[in-house]
Amino acid sequence: METMETTRTETSAENPAIRRLDEWDAKRLRELADEHGTPLYVQDLERVRENYARMADAFPDADVRYAAKANTSRAVLRTLVEAGAGIECASAGEVERALAAGCPADRVQYTAVNPPDEDLDYAVTAAAEYPELTITVGARDTIDRLEERGFDGRLCLRVNPGVGAGHHEKVQTGADAKFGVPIDRAPETLADAADRSFDVVGIHAHAGSGISGEALGSHRELVSRMGGLARDAPVDLEFVDVGGGFGVPYRPEEEPLDLAGVARATREALGEVEATLAVEPGRYLVADAGVLLTRVNTVKLAGEERVVGIDAGMTHLARPAMYDAHHEMRSLAPDADDREPVGVTVAGPICESGDTFGSHDLSAPERGDLLAIGNAGAYGYEMASQYNSRPRPATVVVDGGRSALDRRRETLSDVTRLEREVPWL
Ligand code: LLP
Repeated sequence: METMETTRTETSAENPAIRRLDEWDAKRLRELADEHGTPLYVQDLERVRENYARMADAFPDADVRYAAKANTSRAVLRTLVEAGAGIECASAGEVERALAAGCPADRVQYTAVNPPDEDLDYAVTAAAEYPELTITVGARDTIDRLEERGFDGRLCLRVNPGVGAGHHEKVQTGADAKFGVPIDRAPETLADAADRSFDVVGIHAHAGSGISGEALGSHRELVSRMGGLARDAPVDLEFVDVGGGFGVPYRPEEEPLDLAGVARATREALGEVEATLAVEPGRYLVADAGVLLTRVNTVKLAGEERVVGIDAGMTHLARPAMYDAHHEMRSLAPDADDREPVGVTVAGPICESGDTFGSHDLSAPERGDLLAIGNAGAYGYEMASQYNSRPRPATVVVDGGRSALDRRRETLSDVTRLEREVPWL
């Protein structure tokens, strides 16, 4: 029954492969901005469920582990856990959030990257309480440090497969020496870990983030190398985790991923293995389920250039400044359709020239207009900071007709909350 229902939803009219910015209800977004102020993140939990359903349909016998780093809102985590997702965590804080959101410990995987002592202490203590939890390690040092702490639980080895991909060089992990044990040394490392009384359960690799188009070839190569390693592994493996990275279209002219095709290619590339396939989508599940609402406060002509100043900047959505990422923008002014589109440069309130959202065609913007920034549900709020002493924004979730504030807006006193008096000043 469940399978029938999810099959029906795969890339159908009710569950399209992408929700474009135009499809958000402008009136509802205006009401939310009026109620909660701007900048404001809005996350649609129904869309998160739809994205998960498509992923689960495409990979029916795989273990889908949501990469929490894309969006750790408790409401989002709960929604995905209820839908059946496990959670891949990048830190002790994310493990804490996953457990607090009700994720069963046997679905929680902590991927340790050069882990600080506090993270390992936390993970080992958590594993003593929940022995079903899995810790993924990417270096022999981490294995030693776990052994020193008396950990002999479920261990997964992160492998550096020597092939990476992703939307920007800063997010291509697969061939970056920082991540994982080189694949040619993986068999001996697995054997050594098993000898040392760890319960070796899996292997893991992640090519990078935001993979689509031709780069999918690199992902297939990664999967094929992991399949080979699984067959050569000196221990019986429970799972082969091939990471996340499923891309989403950020521009209107970009096509969404053919997820069924990607899943088919993944299966083929993996080949025959006894172990369960695991995938770790982050962005794919949450990106198009979120928008960032912001208000225009300045419109000015600078020579030929028309600059539109808004109240959201790189401290609220870092992706454009950090990766030159494009995010669609749309005017939510009630009369937006009656105004001529004009080419503008959109810039935030941060005192830094990198604080720009680039060029956009917007319905002739006026001071006070509300704008929506698309695909903001992944790596949006998560990467927000207080640079320039700016409070972080509020986040609201919507779910059918309901809506709720799930993170309040920071205040100026939050910005200075951690300050202590220095006695001699
Ligand atoms: N698994 C591991 C081990 C990862 O490191 C990541 C992302 C994922 C899964 C999920 O990747 P996704 O499916 O979301 O592409 N801040 C960047 C993205 C960094 C991703 C880091 N790791 C951005 O905004 O594009």
